[in-house]
Amino acid sequence: MNHLIAPSILAADFANLQRDLEMINKSDADWVHVDIMDGMFVPNISFGFPVVSATKKHATKPLDVHLMIVEPDRYLKAFKDAGADGMTVHYEACPHLHRTIQAVKELGCRAGVALNPHTPVTLLQDIIGDLDLVLIMSVNPGFGGQKFIENTYKKLHDLKALSRDKNPNLFIEVDGGVDQHNIQKLVDAGANVLVAGSSVFSSASPSAAISHLKYPEKLLQS
Ligand code: DX5
Ligand code: ZN
Repeated sequence: MNHLIAPSILAADFANLQRDLEMINKSDADWVHVDIMDGMFVPNISFGFPVVSATKKHATKPLDVHLMIVEPDRYLKAFKDAGADGMTVHYEACPHLHRTIQAVKELGCRAGVALNPHTPVTLLQDIIGDLDLVLIMSVNPGFGGQKFIENTYKKLHDLKALSRDKNPNLFIEVDGGVDQHNIQKLVDAGANVLVAGSSVFSSASPSAAISHLKYPEKLLQS
């Protein structure tokens, strides 16, 4: 499978969100990554339901909603109603992860689990068969524009081995510090969904930056 690109609107211009979403609609991007932060699970607050609904109104691509919140079960239906196509909860925020994953699936959404940089992949071995997606955080969650953590490659290796046996169709997503310099190595290590915030929106041409992430081999040839 060719890897998917999910630009993170956390790095978009919120005063021009419709413009930025129309850029994503016309680009080589596959999903729209939507970061929800509650100021509790992570030390930052991003945005809530009205912004997700407004995003859904203008985006033509699926909304990949990353819930960096405590007790996500309380809000799953509300995010579905706001337009989520997939929802990813954090392992570290879910004491009853199996129940939470079933609830996401019952809403008809793709169900994902995110792992913080310190959380080992092996902790997923008894639930991996129930998951549609695993998101490996390659920075500590809470902020865009942070430095990529190199141990991510080792975690991709571990996850690839686990998914090969138990869930070969798993989406393996990497989030944080992804740019045109590390994307090929991440794909080679097994990532098949790449989130990118600042490397897209701080570029002079966000649309070209997305194309470079989607087709890194073309950039190497040029
Ligand atoms: C970080 C968020 C990321 C963020 C990535 O907590 O989950 O999705 O938007 O931003 P960059 O690509 O700038 O690291
Ligand atoms: Zn994210």
